[in-house]
Amino acid sequence: MTPESQNYLLSSIRSIPDYPKPGIIFRDITTLLGDARAFRRAVDELVQPYVGLKVDKIAGMEARGFILGGAVAHQLSAGFVPIRKKGKLPHETVRIAYSLEYGVDEMEIHMDAVKPGEKVILVDDLIATGGTAVGAVQLLRQIGADVVSACFVIDLPELGGRKKLEALGVEVRTLVEFE
Ligand code: PRP
Ligand code: ADE
Repeated sequence: MTPESQNYLLSSIRSIPDYPKPGIIFRDITTLLGDARAFRRAVDELVQPYVGLKVDKIAGMEARGFILGGAVAHQLSAGFVPIRKKGKLPHETVRIAYSLEYGVDEMEIHMDAVKPGEKVILVDDLIATGGTAVGAVQLLRQIGADVVSACFVIDLPELGGRKKLEALGVEVRTLVEFE
């Protein structure tokens, strides 16, 4: 990715101090999504390393992972698997509790969302502590997925999420960083 593209993406992300809790700087991608050039560039850059790979499905975490994951799935002609906050999926699910930078929650996946051995890439807007992404990998593996990679627009490296995912044997790709 060119430095020009990286700077363009960085400048399209809005930072909000003390949201949703004091001490958190919230990296808000609504401004990136609302800028057609930035949205297209982010999706193109997320997709590019996977072109030509036989990926069966993209999994995205509610809610921001749905926006980016849906676009990536379309570009790669892959299916899309929603990982949702608890109580939203109507069929049989597997559930996991997880913690993230500013809270705790539970998320679920449909038991039949992938066939055993299907190749899945995880997509989200941001990795911070990695709690959400690690939980998503655990859910996907429980239902038999082969999680080949995970990609995010934003990495907050000081919070260590990338290392946690890599320790699980998942390749991690990110586009921009905030310290
Ligand atoms: C945000 C973000 C990631 C997660 C990252 O989601 O979209 O999914 O936090 O944090 P972590 O690496 O510390 O786990 P959030 O739960 O705020 O949900 P939203 O997309 O519905 O706003
Ligand atoms: N998810 C976890 N930490 C976040 C942050 N600092 N900004 C936006 N989303 C987040």
